[in-house]
Amino acid sequence: MKNIYSNIYRPNLTNLKKAKKNIENNKVIGVPTETVYGLAGNAYSDTAVKKIYSIKKRPFKNPLIIHFKNLKDLEKDIIPNKNFLKLYRAFCPGPITFVLKKRKGSKISKIATAGLDTVAIRIPSHKVIRKLLKIIKFPLAAPSANIASKLSPTSAKDVFEELGNKINFILDGGKSRIGLESTIIDLTKGPSILRPGIITLNNIEKILKKKVGVKKNLKKIKAPGQLKLHYSPGIPVKMNKKMVKKNEALIGFGKNFKNKKNHFNLSQKGNLMEAANNLYMVMRKIKNKKFKSISVVKIPKKEIGFAINDRLRKASSK
Ligand code: TXA
Ligand code: MG
Repeated sequence: MKNIYSNIYRPNLTNLKKAKKNIENNKVIGVPTETVYGLAGNAYSDTAVKKIYSIKKRPFKNPLIIHFKNLKDLEKDIIPNKNFLKLYRAFCPGPITFVLKKRKGSKISKIATAGLDTVAIRIPSHKVIRKLLKIIKFPLAAPSANIASKLSPTSAKDVFEELGNKINFILDGGKSRIGLESTIIDLTKGPSILRPGIITLNNIEKILKKKVGVKKNLKKIKAPGQLKLHYSPGIPVKMNKKMVKKNEALIGFGKNFKNKKNHFNLSQKGNLMEAANNLYMVMRKIKNKKFKSISVVKIPKKEIGFAINDRLRKASSK
C-alpha cells in the first residue's frame, strides 16, 4: 500500500489544477465537503461515474448526488420548482440535497442517476470543492468516499483509510465541519425528507410554511433481516444501552457521562450538533482500537438527534 502522504494534497492552486486535470481525464479523486468527504468524478462522463461505483463497490441501482457550484449551472440539468427556489435561497450553499426532475437533454450520465428521471443535486459550501467546481466545466458526481455500507470519512486521512491506493489523489480540506451527510429532500411531489441531517424538518417547514413528510423506511420493512446495513464501523453496534460487556466500547452523551478507556463521549456539553460532528470520528476511533462491538446510550430524538439516531439505526441493522 502506498504511503498515506503521497496520496493527500494540500488544496493550493497548483494542486487544485492537478485535481482539475485528474477529473478532466476521467479519474476520480477524494474531495472535502462540509458534511463528509466525497469520491468525485465528472458527472457527465459514464467512464468516470462507472469508476466511482466500482471503487465504492456500490450497486448500480443506487444513484449518486451531483454537486454544482450555482443555480445557473444546475438549471441546465434539472427543472427547478418553487419549493426548491425557497430552500435554495435559505440554505445554499450548504448541507442539503434536493431530488428534482431531470431536464430533457441533460448531460448527466444515466449511470449516475441509475436510469431515473430524477436527480439528487447539492450545492456544497466547503471552499475547496467550490474552488474546484469553479475551474471545471461540468458538475461533480460525488457519493461519500467510503466502501458501500461503511462509515463515511470526515478527514483526508479517513478517505485514505477507507479507499487506500484505490485512488491516487485526495484534496485535504481539514476535518469536515458537520461530519454527517446532507439532509435529502424529495421535491418532485409533496416535499418529503428521505435522509435527515443537520438541516432539520423544523428548519425546512419554517421556510416552506407547510408540513413536510418524512420517509420512514423502517416502518415499511417487514422483517428485520431486510434492514439495510449502512454507516457501519465494521463491528456490531447496539443502541439505547447503558452498560458494556468485555471488549466493548460505550458511546455516551452529556455532562454525566465520563470518558474512560472504553467510554467515549460525543458531547460533554450535551450539544447535538457537536455529537453529530463527532459520531463517525468516534466510531472510527473505536474500531481502530480493536474493540469488538459498540454500545450507544439513548440519544435524544429531537432536532439533529433524528439524524444521529437514523445513522445509528442503520449502523446497527444486520
Ligand atoms: O453529504 C452528502 O450528501 C455527501 C457529500 C459527499 O456530498 N454525499 C453523500 O452521497 O452522502 P451518498 O451517495 O453516500 O448518498 C446519496 C444518497 C443515496 O442514499 C441515494 O440513494 C440518494 O442519495 N439518491 C441519489 N439520487 C437519488 C434520487 N434521484 N432519488 C432519491 N434518492 C437519491
Ligand atoms: Mg454514503
